[in-house]
Amino acid sequence: MDNSTLLNLAGTFGTPLYVYDGDKIEEKINALRGAFPDIRIKIKYACKANTNISVLSLMRSLGVEVDVVSPQEMHLAFKAGFSPDQITFTSSGVGFEEIEECLAEGVLVNVDNLSALEKFGQKYGNTRPLFIRIRPNVQGGGNLKISTGHGNSKFGIPVEQKAEILRLVNQYNLNIVGLHQHTGSDIKDGETFLQAAEVMFELAMSFGNLQYLDFGGGFKVAYREGDAVTDMKDLGEKLSARFRDFCKAYGRELELWFEPGKFLVSESGFLLAQVNVVKNNPNGTLLGLNTGLNHLIRPMMYDAYHDVVNLSKAGRPAEKKYNVVGYMCETDDIAKDRDLPETAEGDILAIRNAGAYGFTMASNYNSRFRPAEVLVYQGKEYLIRERETLEDILKNQVLITF
Ligand code: LLP
Repeated sequence: MDNSTLLNLAGTFGTPLYVYDGDKIEEKINALRGAFPDIRIKIKYACKANTNISVLSLMRSLGVEVDVVSPQEMHLAFKAGFSPDQITFTSSGVGFEEIEECLAEGVLVNVDNLSALEKFGQKYGNTRPLFIRIRPNVQGGGNLKISTGHGNSKFGIPVEQKAEILRLVNQYNLNIVGLHQHTGSDIKDGETFLQAAEVMFELAMSFGNLQYLDFGGGFKVAYREGDAVTDMKDLGEKLSARFRDFCKAYGRELELWFEPGKFLVSESGFLLAQVNVVKNNPNGTLLGLNTGLNHLIRPMMYDAYHDVVNLSKAGRPAEKKYNVVGYMCETDDIAKDRDLPETAEGDILAIRNAGAYGFTMASNYNSRFRPAEVLVYQGKEYLIRERETLEDILKNQVLITF
């Protein structure tokens, strides 16, 4: 999306504002499909990355299905028009009642621990199909907070507990239709996927009725120009070849599933904000924005790099280094040491890669409103979430007057 479109949107809808480029989302979906031309693949969008129901609706219209991690996400998916058979609930240490709730709606459930497997067996036996999430003990992910497949992680059933899994599967005659793993987020090295896939292929041979293998999400996207990303073409070629061999050995053609979040939406999103204050401190110049970690927590939480563009000075050369900070009551860095054109109070900045884990991780900290959201698709702009008001902040609060 070009800078002048973004600047116009800031003018029309005000700031802070989340903007998503629907054409970019479509391009990413096509890129993923294009990397696996000869395999039956299914994209199960990990909607935790961005659950706006209009984004979900766009995904649905483009033939993407959805992976949810809570009954609430399941209901958002229903709202966006997904049918139960298009939704998988990947549970992670949830109470069994959440599993029951999703099953009652006809949604496929992915179980991540032996205790839930046993409860499932006792209550449902082989009357419902089931997915099992395994922990392959493969290290993947950009940093420890977003690594999930390694041998110290809480996620999935450790693959070395295969005997226990099989004992429960046999005892309750469970209908295991799929195996699942997700080794982390921001995985640059395609080898990580291939290594984890080998673990899954080996385990899969012990299950007789599989239809799907789900390799999770985690593809690394570009956060700045020239950034190393997962090489999808190379991964597509190598994993397709191994998958075909596996299916031959297994004796049935399975479906290959992915659950990307960032890959589909990260680069589509921009957080637009205004410069409230330019502070010329002796140790550097600060740009204080009308947003902060309440709206985009990734820089403070993961040291994530987000590119910043001064839309009001687009096309001008970078002249100066700035530290971009938020307006919260605590250290609230957004971007450090960035070369930008001479920036003035009132300028509108775009923070890039804000489409994934931006709004969904936003809060009302400091009792501030969460931003509005706009989706632009095929030349049309849609307001897909209104800016909050004081009523939203007060909703559910109970005033006891003492
Ligand atoms: N599948 C499962 C089971 C997951 O847990 C996740 C993400 C995904 C798929 C999608 O991963 P992705 O393709 O988006 O990397 N808030 C962090 C990321 C946490 C990811 C949690 N699980 C961040 O902002 O970097």
